[in-house]
Amino acid sequence: MDIMLNNPKETEGIAKIIGSVAAPGDTIILSGDLGAGKTTMTKGIAVGLGIDQMIKSPTYTIIREYQQGRLPLYHMDVYRIEHGADDLGLDEYFEGDGLSVVEWGKLLGEFLPTDYLDITITKDSEDMEKRIVSFQAIGTQAERFLERIHKKMEDHV
Ligand SMILES: Nc1ncnc2c1ncn2[C@@H]1O[C@H](COP(=O)(O)OP(=O)(O)O)[C@@H](O)[C@H]1O
Ligand SMILES: [Mg+2]
Repeated sequence: MDIMLNNPKETEGIAKIIGSVAAPGDTIILSGDLGAGKTTMTKGIAVGLGIDQMIKSPTYTIIREYQQGRLPLYHMDVYRIEHGADDLGLDEYFEGDGLSVVEWGKLLGEFLPTDYLDITITKDSEDMEKRIVSFQAIGTQAERFLERIHKKMEDHV
């Protein structure tokens, strides 16, 4: 599924929907170039989970955990591991009761979880604010997650 996002507000809108239908143990692997909008999307997901705390990019800490929402949010950014995928011990988060959102998660390679929703944000070469976001479910839990996102989006149009 591909969706056009015309500005950051639209990205936040989709992200809120995603956060509002996330279930315990769901995982999102977020891909896209620097500045594509991965952290912006995570902020909207946090709002959808009912977290009102400020979301800070975990680039230097790898993981930040937020417990004030409907579900815990485990926000990770594995950019700093560069291309030497290492066992960072993230499985305890993937297997936890919260929603894991991993910026640059594809860099985990063999340490990727087995079931995840792949969300890729692509910039437009002409319009500074335009993005294409594509969703792909890997595994049955992610399929159910994507179905709930679909349904909620339909309810909103
Ligand atoms: N449609 C859009 N969706 C998300 N961010 C956008 C959009 N248009 C412009 N932006 C801007 O692009 C930047 C994205 O930054 P950020 O979310 O930190 O990216 P990343 O985490 O992918 O490096 C922000 O400054 C945001 O305001
Ligand atoms: Mg980021």
